[in-house]
Amino acid sequence: MTKKSTNTVWHHATITRADREALHKHKSVILWFTGLSGSGKSTLAHAVEEHLHKTGNSTFVLDGDNVRHGLCSDLGFSDSDRVENIRRIGELAKLMTEAGVITLTAFISPFKSDREDARKRVPHGDFLEIYCQCPIETCEKRDVKGLYKKARAGEIPFFTGIGSPYEAPDRPELVINTHELTLDESVQKVLNLLIQRGIIKAKAG
Ligand code: ADX
Repeated sequence: MTKKSTNTVWHHATITRADREALHKHKSVILWFTGLSGSGKSTLAHAVEEHLHKTGNSTFVLDGDNVRHGLCSDLGFSDSDRVENIRRIGELAKLMTEAGVITLTAFISPFKSDREDARKRVPHGDFLEIYCQCPIETCEKRDVKGLYKKARAGEIPFFTGIGSPYEAPDRPELVINTHELTLDESVQKVLNLLIQRGIIKAKAG
């Protein structure tokens, strides 16, 4: 996107990210969940958040369906709108890490290049990609929102996995097979990653 605002000057905050992390007693990071609709991204992100919150960590979930009610309500599901959707979320998630928060994003984010752009926006190690891997047949069987049925009936023309592609990550930090693992097992895998990366202390896991 072309930057239209000229004559602006960056103001450096006197309270730094490190100050905020020290206050929260943990590091901040982006946990970027990606996968098909119905693959379990939101369920897992919220379950991880619940655990982290109960153990005293500052967290926030940015969820695709919710964000599309406000910040991204002007965007649809064309390729270019999805690119802009993920650009905004990448920027927002970056700000939230600056605020010292463990930020969990749950968007299909179907295009590799958009996820790579989001990764590049933050320092190395601050973006952990978690692929919620689930065969489309299983997502379709679950059809929690009834959208696969509508897509198959031709009522949603660019539905991800049917009329629009999903590009799986090549080297995500974590792959969760949501059709094989229980929710608790999946949560534990994410917590282990956070401990391994030094984001939270082992006692929180
Ligand atoms: S993304 O592709 O731009 O990352 P996002 O995660 O924000 O998508 O929104 C996906 C959610 O929007 C789905 O879970 C589903 O509820 C809804 N949705 C509505 N239309 C579509 C569509 N054409 N493709 C995918 N999801 C859709």
